[in-house]
Amino acid sequence: MKITFLGHASLLIQINAITIIVDPFISSNSLASNINVSNITADYILLTHAHLDHVLDVETIAANNPNAIVIANAEIAAYYAIKNIKTHMMNHGGSWNFDFGKLKMVNAIHSSSFADGTYGGNSCGYVIESQHKNIYIAGDTALTFDMKLIPMRTKLDLAVLPIGDNFTMDVDDAIIAAEFLQCDKILGYHYDTFGYIKINHEQAIKKFFNAGKDLMLLPIGESIFL
Ligand code: NI
Ligand code: MN
Repeated sequence: MKITFLGHASLLIQINAITIIVDPFISSNSLASNINVSNITADYILLTHAHLDHVLDVETIAANNPNAIVIANAEIAAYYAIKNIKTHMMNHGGSWNFDFGKLKMVNAIHSSSFADGTYGGNSCGYVIESQHKNIYIAGDTALTFDMKLIPMRTKLDLAVLPIGDNFTMDVDDAIIAAEFLQCDKILGYHYDTFGYIKINHEQAIKKFFNAGKDLMLLPIGESIFL
């Protein structure tokens, strides 16, 4: 599994020959000017909620990849289905076996609405169990006891957690989340993009290190391999 950080909460996940783009917000992220949305090829567009900083480039990517399937909650899937985009709707607690592995939609505590005011259902996170590695993508969320449920079913190899504060968990809550998840390897996201969520990288990494955990903060465009 290869995971590339595309800035903010956008990830490109490659599992065998399959590519999944998560929460694409690239074209108006000045920090991600090295990423060209028109060059993105994807088989799936995985969405955690409807806020603009997670769905901005969905329609562009879908137009360039007409076979790509949007995976999201019922409300978000319906929003794109009427625009003739292929969708797979899910809801919290449900799993589906895709060709890249088993995907489970899990709880997140956060709001969700489209920029035009359309209701975007409830925010979610995802657990992906692929052939070799298991990951959790938290989405935008507060720290929640529900995270303790995840390791009861899945031994995680990586957790992707928001750490920017103001809209989501901060670093200290994310460390508690990592404990709840029984996962020592964390990829941080949802930081630095806007003034409210600027963080001190060195201090964040040190705090995780002191808790016995490894926080990775990838430069935009860089990848990790699991
Ligand atoms: Ni949000
Ligand atoms: Mn967000």
